[in-house]
Parts: sequence; structure tokens; C-alpha cells
Amino acid sequence: METLKVKGGKRLYGETTVQGAKNSALPCLAATVLGRNCVIHNCPDLKDTRAAIEILKSLGISAEFSDNTVVTHNNGEIGFAISDSLMKEMRSSVVFLGAILSRAKKAEISYPGGCSIGSRPIDLHLKAFREMGVSVETDNDRIFCTLDKIKDAKIVLDFPSVGATENIMLLAAVSDAEVEIINGAKEPEILDLQNFINSMGGDIRNVKERLVIRGQKALYDTQYKVIPDRIAAITYLCAICGCGGHGRLSCVRPEHLSLPVAILERAGSQFEIGEDYIEIKSPNRPKNFGLIETMPYPGFPTDAQAIFMAAAARGKGECCFVENIFENRFRHIKELEKLGAMADIKDDCVYMTGRKRLKGNRLYAEDLRGGAALVIGALAAKGESVIENIGYIDRGYEKIERSLSDFGAEIAREK
Ligand code: EPZ
Repeated sequence: METLKVKGGKRLYGETTVQGAKNSALPCLAATVLGRNCVIHNCPDLKDTRAAIEILKSLGISAEFSDNTVVTHNNGEIGFAISDSLMKEMRSSVVFLGAILSRAKKAEISYPGGCSIGSRPIDLHLKAFREMGVSVETDNDRIFCTLDKIKDAKIVLDFPSVGATENIMLLAAVSDAEVEIINGAKEPEILDLQNFINSMGGDIRNVKERLVIRGQKALYDTQYKVIPDRIAAITYLCAICGCGGHGRLSCVRPEHLSLPVAILERAGSQFEIGEDYIEIKSPNRPKNFGLIETMPYPGFPTDAQAIFMAAAARGKGECCFVENIFENRFRHIKELEKLGAMADIKDDCVYMTGRKRLKGNRLYAEDLRGGAALVIGALAAKGESVIENIGYIDRGYEKIERSLSDFGAEIAREK
């Protein structure tokens, strides 16, 4: 099994280019089911995007991926089922459901299943689908959907679920209906999917905080470039904040990172921010991070919680993290404690007391962002660390060791 070997305890200097957004590329790849010939640029080369391409191929859509560009050809005849193995390989494969239903008028998938950060049900997706006229049958592990005609609907989401919002957009985009989403997710990746669908001839608008989808008869060819990955950008900013140093990130959308950057500023880092770059200068040891509560966008992103916690492990004084989105997203803490981090978990709060000195150790990744947090912790810790189970990290970062080596980090992948 591959591992990452890290020699930590040094300040980081350098610059890197940030990959395209995984959580934008995945729903856009699902949206190619609705179109004919699509070219998607800036697609990150990850286990999850490769899995999405395998799903497209299993549906009969040709999909080629090279040099961060995906080219798809869809002759309209598509399958309606996704195999169990492909569903289990990537939880977010559920976002294909709306697009398949729209084209094939039926769909059969297995429940995507939870993962290490939580049970991750899809009740909001299925409730919305029923309100749009889909008939949904479920047995213990499979979901069978059939559709005659999409109905006009005003969907009020109980929670601004990213996946449910995306699935409703993908189901309604090609239809005779008008569907409104109230309390939909507002993450930048939602707007990117909206722009992608509209670039194919779709009609999705934001009208007074509501997402209004006016179904079209068909969607057409497009070339599109997905937005930069805001969570990957935050990861590298936190690495520099945790270690001290000076770095520049290009190919970013600073407006997508304003709250995380403000918290890093509060913890003592200084920034120079341009249209598509961010420069960070961090003291040897961060100051206090204060209170960090994860919320739907534009609140603090849950995907950045573990990453910030790793930087805060060396911060001055005590800070507090509250995880409001997922019920099991603290698994990285016991691993950070192996480096000497001091954390006290009380329900969904973690009180972190920063330590000036952390010491390298053998660590084990248990989820994607928790794994990235261990890399940051290892870089900030004096001496050698080895991180195991790094397949999780490869689901969301294009060769994380290459990007961090751009900042002079001593990190290498070992077979
Ligand atoms: C997306 O997951 C992202 N994944 C996640 O990123 C991200 O953490 C999450 O949004 C929140 O921002 C992708 O975009 C591929 P949700 P998603 O539906 O769509 C509950 C990463 O690290 N919920 O907004 O699954 C759910 O259990 C990943 O890149 C229901 O209860 O997130 C969770 O507690 C991790 N019923 C909360 O809502 C539903 O039907 C947020 O889920 C749907 C969701």
C-alpha cells in the first residue's frame, strides 16, 4: 500500500497552481448525460473523476480524459442502471440519478451508502423527486425510479443539501416543467453546474434567492472550464499557516475563500489577493483561531474543518471547532494527537489547545479531508512522519505531494 513520507518542522516557501474543483467536475460530468458532445476543461485527475468517467462509459456514453480535459459523446441511447461496484466506489455517484432519469425515464441504482464522515442519507433527493412526479420504489439496497413527465414544482429543501440541489437541477433541466428550489445549496459548485447546464442551452436562474429551472426540450454541445478547487486552495494555505512561511497560489477564485482567509488572517497570516491568485505570509507559529463553526456556504465549509484543525494544532492558546454538517467528522483528531496535538471533544465541539512543538509519527488516513489534515500536521511536526491509507487523499487531491513540494515541503510517495 502506498504511503506518504514527510520530513516536517520546516517553513514553506514557493508557489503552486491549484487544481480544478472536484465537487464541480463531478456534477458537470453527470450533466453530460443531458447533452450531446461536451468538452470539460480543468477537470482534476482524481480517483473520483475517473470513477465518474467509468459510470458514463457504463451508460454507453463515450468519455475520454487526457491532460485535465474530458471529451464526451452521447448519441442519446443511454443505459439506466449503475452497477453496485461503481456506486460503492464513489458515494457522490447519486448525482447521476437525476440526469439518467431525465434521459432514460427510468433509473436503477443502489443506495450510495454512507462513508466515514456520516450516514449521508438521500431522503431529500427522493422526496424532491416524488414532488416532481417521479415514482420511487426502494428495497433494502436498491432504488428504482420511473418517470412519465416532470411536474411543475416548488421544492422547499429542509436542509440546503448540495447533492439534492444538484440532482433536482439535473432532473429538471430537460423537461416541460418549471421547478423552483427554495432553500437550495448556494456553494460555488452549484453556480458552476448552473453555468455548465446553461452553456448547453439550459435555463437556470437565481430569482430572489430561489433557483428557478425552466426545462428545455434538449441541451446541446458545449466547451466549459470548471472553477478552481477552493478546498484544495484552503489546504495549501493552511499548510503554510501551520508551518510558517510565504507562498503564492495561482488559479484560484479568492471570492470563494473569503471566510477561511479571514480566519487565517485573524490567526496572524497576511495576504495579498489578486483576481486569480492569493499570496500568504505566515509567522512561524499561528496565533489563535477563535471559534470555527461549519455551516452551509457562505458559512465556514465543513470540508475545511479538519484542515484548519491541523494548522490550529500549533496555534497559540485554545480555540474551538463546531461541526454542524456531518455527524462523524472528527476521526482525524486521534491521529493528530499522535503528533502531540491537544484536543478535547465534547459532543460536536472540539477544544484545541495549540502546542509550539509537534513531533512526527506514523498516521492513518480515515477520510479524504481528514487525510489532508494529517499531511498538514506532519509538515508542521518536527521529524519524520509516515501517512498510511492515502487512497482517501487521492480521491480529492491531484498528487498532493507534488503541490506541497512546490512549497519546498519534504514529502514523497512510497510504494
Ligand atoms: C457535498 O456532499 C460534497 N461532495 C461534500 O464534499 C461536502 O462536504 C458537502 O457537499 C457539504 O458541503 C460533493 O460535492 C461530491 P449534502 P453532499 O447533501 O452533497 C445531510 C469532500 O470532502 N443530508 O450537502 O453529500 C447529509 O447527511 C466531500 O469533497 C440528508 O440528511 O452533502 C449531511 O449531514 C465530503 N439527506 C448534510 O445533509 C439528504 O438527502 C450535508 O449533505 C442529503 C443530505
